[in-house]
Amino acid sequence: MPDLLRVARAVATNQVARLSPRAYLSLTGQTGRGDALGESPEYIASYFKRCVDDYLAFAGVPAEQAESWLAGKTIVEYGPGDFPGVALLLLALGARKVYCVDRFPMVRLSQKNAEVWSALIASLTPIQLERARALLRNPQAPSEGFHTESVQYVVRAHGFSGLQEVCDLALSRAVLEHVDDLPGTFGDMRAALKPGGVAIHLVDLKSHGLHQENPLDFLAWPNWLWSLMYSHKGVPNRWRLDRYREIVDALGVESVRLEPTQCASASDVLAVRPLLSPPFRDLDDEDLACLGLWIGFRKPAA
Ligand SMILES: C[S@@+](CC[C@H](N)C(=O)[O-])C[C@H]1O[C@@H](n2cnc3c(N)ncnc32)[C@H](O)[C@@H]1O
Repeated sequence: MPDLLRVARAVATNQVARLSPRAYLSLTGQTGRGDALGESPEYIASYFKRCVDDYLAFAGVPAEQAESWLAGKTIVEYGPGDFPGVALLLLALGARKVYCVDRFPMVRLSQKNAEVWSALIASLTPIQLERARALLRNPQAPSEGFHTESVQYVVRAHGFSGLQEVCDLALSRAVLEHVDDLPGTFGDMRAALKPGGVAIHLVDLKSHGLHQENPLDFLAWPNWLWSLMYSHKGVPNRWRLDRYREIVDALGVESVRLEPTQCASASDVLAVRPLLSPPFRDLDDEDLACLGLWIGFRKPAA
């Protein structure tokens, strides 16, 4: 039996998010990285650095070849969060342009994020530092933002970029589990990629704090009620590994890699089975257990 107070609160706040996404974001203080209030600028900068290192590792690019691999690349990053730290690092490494695409107006050029910028550039080599400084509108004031020819922040319905064959690389981390039109986002990224372009995404299939006793029991809510409570807030869409496989299989791409990163225990899978809502009942144990995955593919060359 759902907790009625929780349902009522979630349905009401979902309407606030629908009517005014900006007010909802400022009320909840979301950054995209969970509760970041206690995180130091150095910690946040190291998180962005880890994101870039992980993308390169997934692509099989050794650290010493990062600059030559990224040189001149145009990149689309879905869901950057409240600061385009990944984009800035990629540009410092030699990428040409990064489009940061979001469904919500997340970016904040706050004092805190100006400190993240300082922490981010502290570890750069002189040439990377020069590239990074050239991104700033005002080299003395990071809070005045970045040149849009290099880093372009785009907020659009469903978080679609609308780009056509301009990107060499499409990236995201902790985003696809939030999107409101998953096949649409994959279609958008395929369209945005040039022939031969590559997509790399890390997906977090956990509950984001919305489970109770079992890490999978958030899959017990009926879809209609989940949607009533959360559809405008960007909380997990709950799609599982099978849905990603299905979408990517139908996308017309090659070199597909779907690599689980973490799994629920066999006992949690067994215990949650009788509770599952219809879309999840037919999942096999392996797909149900999956709590995170890497997805990679290449758009076929023309
Ligand atoms: C959990 S945050 C991750 C932020 C960042 N990638 C990181 O790792 O810190 C999810 C991000 O996805 C964005 N998002 C939600 N729905 C989206 C959509 N349909 N398309 C693109 N971005 C979306 C959110 O606004 C937020 O910026």
